[in-house]
Amino acid sequence: MAGGTSRLQASRTMVPMTTPILNGKVAVITGAAQGIGYACARVFVREGAKVLLVDFSGAEDEAAATLGPAAVPHHADVSREDEIEAMFAAALDKFGRVDAAIHVAGTQGGRSPEILRYMSAKAALQRAALPEEQAEVAAFLASDRASFVTATVIPVDGGWSARLA
Ligand SMILES: NC(=O)c1ccc[n+]([C@@H]2O[C@H](COP(=O)([O-])OP(=O)(O)OC[C@H]3O[C@@H](n4cnc5c(N)ncnc54)[C@H](O)[C@@H]3O)[C@@H](O)[C@H]2O)c1
Repeated sequence: MAGGTSRLQASRTMVPMTTPILNGKVAVITGAAQGIGYACARVFVREGAKVLLVDFSGAEDEAAATLGPAAVPHHADVSREDEIEAMFAAALDKFGRVDAAIHVAGTQGGRSPEILRYMSAKAALQRAALPEEQAEVAAFLASDRASFVTATVIPVDGGWSARLA
């Protein structure tokens, strides 16, 4: 674009890329001792959020410790209703509010390297996601930058579902 400023350059000027997008927010993140949940906790803390880092594995204390004081560990089994209630009560008690609930707890099941290779080959990008690539979208959705996004589904699948269409 000769002599002009592209829309991308302009938006970068208006919103410095270094501005944390979750300053002042509080998130409850389940399944956060490892994998996608941990990546979410890491990205949320990086972006200025306070996080209740929830897991039932026993590794939640160690995981939270790697993220500093903004991450508070909480032991809960999210298949139990009473533990879910206690989890949100703990978040309110600790932080006074909850802005986002990110539910990642679950099990991947036994996927052999062959199945993973097969599934990755089906994606337009020809690979599996990094946990951080899921986490960055979750952070955006929890931020005020997504203030007009509601009740929608955003595939973060490297074009996997698009190629099935
Ligand atoms: N990794 C992938 O490619 C992929 C793809 C599609 C869907 N998923 C789904 O995303 C979720 C997370 O995947 P991941 O790869 O991060 O898994 P992971 O096994 O690495 O981590 C899951 C975490 O959830 C915790 N957890 C499981 N059940 C829990 C419960 N009842 N209460 C509290 N904590 C519990 C585990 O202890 C573990 O720390 C899973 O449900 C998985 O099926 C993953």
